[in-house]
Amino acid sequence: LRMAIMISGGAGYIGSHTVRYFLDKNEDVIVVDNLQTGHRQSLAIEHLYQIDLRDKKELDKIFRVHNVEAVIHFAANSLVSESMEKPFEYYHNNVYGLMCLLDVMKDNDVKKIVFSSTAATYGEPKNIPIIEEDDTNPTNTYGETKLAMEKMMKWFDQGYDIKYVSLRYFNAAGAHESGNIGEEHDPETHLIPLILQVPLGQREKIFMFGDDYSTEDGTCVRDYIHVMDLASAHYLALEYLRGNNPSEVFNLGNGNGYSVKQVIDVARQVTNNPIPAEVKERRAGDPAILIASSEKAKDMLGWEPQFNSLEKIINDAWRWHKNNPEGYS
Ligand code: UFG
Repeated sequence: LRMAIMISGGAGYIGSHTVRYFLDKNEDVIVVDNLQTGHRQSLAIEHLYQIDLRDKKELDKIFRVHNVEAVIHFAANSLVSESMEKPFEYYHNNVYGLMCLLDVMKDNDVKKIVFSSTAATYGEPKNIPIIEEDDTNPTNTYGETKLAMEKMMKWFDQGYDIKYVSLRYFNAAGAHESGNIGEEHDPETHLIPLILQVPLGQREKIFMFGDDYSTEDGTCVRDYIHVMDLASAHYLALEYLRGNNPSEVFNLGNGNGYSVKQVIDVARQVTNNPIPAEVKERRAGDPAILIASSEKAKDMLGWEPQFNSLEKIINDAWRWHKNNPEGYS
């Protein structure tokens, strides 16, 4: 029986792009997703099991039917503001969900997991660019649950020899070049898809949350990374674990920062639309600048982002939204 890679949350934004990448690498892929926020239409149906990770009995059945070599774990809630209003849901789905997954992995002797983590584990950074050794002081429930999950994996490694790679993404953006899968959240809170709603005729203007930060133009600076570059990093992380290497944590970003104003400007060029913008008050909990150092991932995984210009990222996002103005529905 060929060994399979289980991708949890494979119907979500980053998950579905990673599924596509792994299939192109000829991996045998199965997806476990409860479809709470994922999209059935982002996948070929033969890959999908609609199961919640907290349903250990059902999850265990899948592990018994398939010869699972490793898990790529995306399934989680990931909206910062929602996490502040619903901490119980975030702890239950994210932290307890991983606990169930690791327990079933342990029972089935599955020893490798690649984990979807976030720059939100750092909180307000003391130094830029951020390196993996920097302090982790999350400023929101979402980041705190992801940090708790990293720590859980550390102790499951000690106790059960389950090796993990934790990938701390900065600002995931863009879409598959085909334009037939992409980003769709409900509600949408991310900057680039919100900007693109203007040329789509779905919103009048974009609000810029604060222009009095200590950055060059006063708006917040972020490190935008193409979703297909994140996908390739998951593959390299799996190869790293296949090489029997120790558990590790890696940042994933471009190392370039773009301000909110700069992102809007590039979107104006790409879409050839004036995209009106208006300054609003700051959004609570936004650090002024988040930029990754990804030197460690480059050195140890051999990762090199391929799509690192913001034009390319927004151009690919735009193709998806233009082809699918209503998303998957
Ligand atoms: N922004 C606006 N207007 C908007 C939406 C966003 O000005 O309508 C600004 C935000 O204030 C922020 C920047 O655009 O300065 C980017 O905001 P996003 O919401 O797109 O992304 P965040 O940087 O807040 O969050 C992202 C991920 C989180 C993750 C975080 C840190 O979405 O999951 O990076 O890693 F936790």
